[in-house]
Amino acid sequence: MKTIGVLTSGGDSPGMNAALRAVVRTAHTLGHKVIAIRLGYKGLIDNDLKEISGADVSNIMQRGGTILKTARCDEFRTQEGRSKAASVMKKNKMDALITIGGDGTFQGASLLGKEHGVNVIGIPATIDNDLVGTDETIGYDTALNTAMQAIDKIRDTADAHDRLFLVEVMGRDAGFIALETGIAGGSELILLPESLTKLDEVKSSLNNALSEQKRSTLVIIAEGDETGGAIKLAEKLKPDFSKYDMRVCILGHIQRGGNPTARDRVLASRLGSAAVVALDEGHSEVMVGVVNNRIKVTPLKMTFGKKKDINFDLLELSRTLR
Ligand code: F6P
Repeated sequence: MKTIGVLTSGGDSPGMNAALRAVVRTAHTLGHKVIAIRLGYKGLIDNDLKEISGADVSNIMQRGGTILKTARCDEFRTQEGRSKAASVMKKNKMDALITIGGDGTFQGASLLGKEHGVNVIGIPATIDNDLVGTDETIGYDTALNTAMQAIDKIRDTADAHDRLFLVEVMGRDAGFIALETGIAGGSELILLPESLTKLDEVKSSLNNALSEQKRSTLVIIAEGDETGGAIKLAEKLKPDFSKYDMRVCILGHIQRGGNPTARDRVLASRLGSAAVVALDEGHSEVMVGVVNNRIKVTPLKMTFGKKKDINFDLLELSRTLR
């Protein structure tokens, strides 16, 4: 029997609860004990934890957010903070830690493993979908659908007023949400951090779109795009596009909340279970992912810090279809 700690860390994403449920239920099936840690690495440092039962994870799969709570923890970024976390794990006789989160979470987990020989397994959960080693991260599909529904609504009002809208979606360093919602929402222009867009090119693309006399024009922009986001882009465009009734809408944190889609619940269930199985099989410092519909185990240190490839064919497609 192993004692496994589990936490959620960084920005929450819909499906974290479904992943937790799968961790707990699989661990119990395999005869292990699970300790739930509240508030991510902060809770680990503060010894804010307790054993979790199968009943504790009933009726949580459909809920957004995370019942464990989450945090971005500055103390864990220091060696001292990580030493405290490792000694709390030792004190509670934890054999391993399962961390559910994104790139920041895995960077911390990787250092904890390196400095203290702690066995950490990562479950990728971030709406940004920017981790290498999995085709999709938990929460991405839900965020896409939330953003797409919002864009559909914006399209209605844009159409009613013949307006030009700049819609900013989340993605600090990655344009996955912008790219796919841009296509799904039929946007006229998509701006991503992965593709350098000069202001002149943005202006000429917009002029082309506007000259087609469509009743509405939507630009989808990732928050991490080098133009600086929708507000800054609007300022830059204003002098040349003053005759158009331009509006800005920042979708923001609504993209992080809400009930996970079926696809996210299934992904979270598979990955939560796979993390425990990976531990059982003796894996250490790895992330579990799904690649081509199969579970794949990737060394944790390979999953963050580099850009996951965006599908430029989709960007091209959006240009053809706009
Ligand atoms: O980590 C995902 C993410 O949604 C980013 O796209 C976004 O920039 C960030 O979180 C916002 O984080 P916070 O909730 O701390 O403002």
